[in-house]
Amino acid sequence: MAISIKNICCIGAGYVGGPSMTVMADRCPEITFNVVDKNIKRIESWNTSDLNNLPIYEPGLSLLINKCRNKNLYFSNEIEKNISSADMIFISVNTPTKKTGLGAGQAIDLKWIESCARQIAMHAKGHTIVVEKSTLPVKTAQAIKSILDGHTKKDSKNLDSDNKTFSILSNPEFLAEGTAIDDLLSPDRILIGGDDNNSIELLKNIYLKWVDGGKILTTDIWSSELSKLIANAFLAQRISSINSISALCESTEANIIDVAKAVGMDSRIGKNFLNSGPGFGGSCFKKDILNLVYICNYYGLNEVADYWEKVITINNWQQNRIVSIVVNKLYGTISGKKIAILGFAFKANTNDTRESPAINICRQLLEEGCTLNIYDPKVKKEQIDSDLRDENYSYLNKSDKEKTWKVSSSIIDAVKETDALIILTDWSEFNNLDFQKINKFMRPPCWIFDTRNIININKAKKYGFNIWKIGNGNL
Ligand code: UDX
Ligand code: UDX
Repeated sequence: MAISIKNICCIGAGYVGGPSMTVMADRCPEITFNVVDKNIKRIESWNTSDLNNLPIYEPGLSLLINKCRNKNLYFSNEIEKNISSADMIFISVNTPTKKTGLGAGQAIDLKWIESCARQIAMHAKGHTIVVEKSTLPVKTAQAIKSILDGHTKKDSKNLDSDNKTFSILSNPEFLAEGTAIDDLLSPDRILIGGDDNNSIELLKNIYLKWVDGGKILTTDIWSSELSKLIANAFLAQRISSINSISALCESTEANIIDVAKAVGMDSRIGKNFLNSGPGFGGSCFKKDILNLVYICNYYGLNEVADYWEKVITINNWQQNRIVSIVVNKLYGTISGKKIAILGFAFKANTNDTRESPAINICRQLLEEGCTLNIYDPKVKKEQIDSDLRDENYSYLNKSDKEKTWKVSSSIIDAVKETDALIILTDWSEFNNLDFQKINKFMRPPCWIFDTRNIININKAKKYGFNIWKIGNGNL
């Protein structure tokens, strides 16, 4: 049994693995952290000397990378070697929704988790603590354990097998993108699930370097796995709840901002996560709810499954509703019109577009025959192009030259000769738009559709804009 942890390996250098290990490395200079990934380009970007070009954009991340990289924090593709030397291994690989086969469209595809478990089983030495960081279906630890245990049995091909032992912990990550570094430095709680007290203590001791002991919760492994799924489901449910009410506000001349404030001031409800918008995006919420629905159906809890599925139904409906409103306000057709899209990331302060509402909304607008100028401060052109290329949409039948969207380099570039602008991401630079200037570049009827409730209506009205704001029936 290890008495202290000296070497940590993290498999998966993504949005979770990268920032999580960077913060740990900063807080635990006596431990060596090796973040490994099979993706060669991604590792090259983590090692780039241009700190503005790290593979993910996250406020505060580049400072910490600069401080720790190549001191006690290393990024590499040497997966096997780093597994062998690790006392503790975090699994932070992606866990997408299955596309085909049993549970397609709902269940989590565990193929990456399984292949990591096999790599660990093959190359680990001595006692290794394996920590699930990825969000996983409840009981995944059992599958990992059985793969690892399979390799500890005597096996003539594996001479080291006698000496290998493993314990498995669940330690889900609750960071939100855009605030990942703050979330990691000052977490609401740290959750550690497992049944081996020695391993739990060793992981707990790492967090105790910067987290108050009262915030570290230990549970059995299944409760820990399930808690992460349920935390995400509850957060997503709040967004669908407030979004459903945004439509009611528009119909009843109420204002969603006032309603959310009044409701949120009840301390039993709380004020956070009550901003209505174009629906939730990101890699987790939809995938985790679909997985929850799958698990509930699996256990015969069909009413529970139906209840949670509605959270996704409302999320999709909100996006479709926004498209219909845009088309209706622009006299029932947008064919041949030009629209500016401000914001493509799924939320502010990230370059991540996974499940971004902007993708669905832009695709539908393009399908209606308009052209789009898209501006986002952090999302690269290649990413936007790849997100909008979906063979199921007929707007793609055109050759590349006739592509009906353009990625713009600034707000002004985006609004030129447009009939409308739609704010889809809550980037702070959209809070204070220069309406006077923008107005000169747009053409009547000069509509602004604010799906994030961030613009100042009075200022905009002064310059003759037509305005629609989500959840505001008073315009
Ligand atoms: C994470 C979680 O781990 C997931 O469960 C959660 O729900 C969403 O967030 P994230 O870090 O966002 O995933 O994913 P991603 O940015 O795609 O990074 C995963 C990395 O793992 C990729 O760089 C991929 O190349 C790597 N990987 C995947 C491996 O190195 N080996 C594998 O076998 C599979
Ligand atoms: C989420 C969880 O918050 C985090 O704990 C978990 O580890 C991963 O999933 P993330 O998806 O990165 O984090 O961002 P989050 O801030 O939760 O936002 C998710 C989506 O909800 C975004 O599209 C955001 O714009 C939207 N949102 C959030 C709203 O529409 N309204 C709100 O009030 C809050």
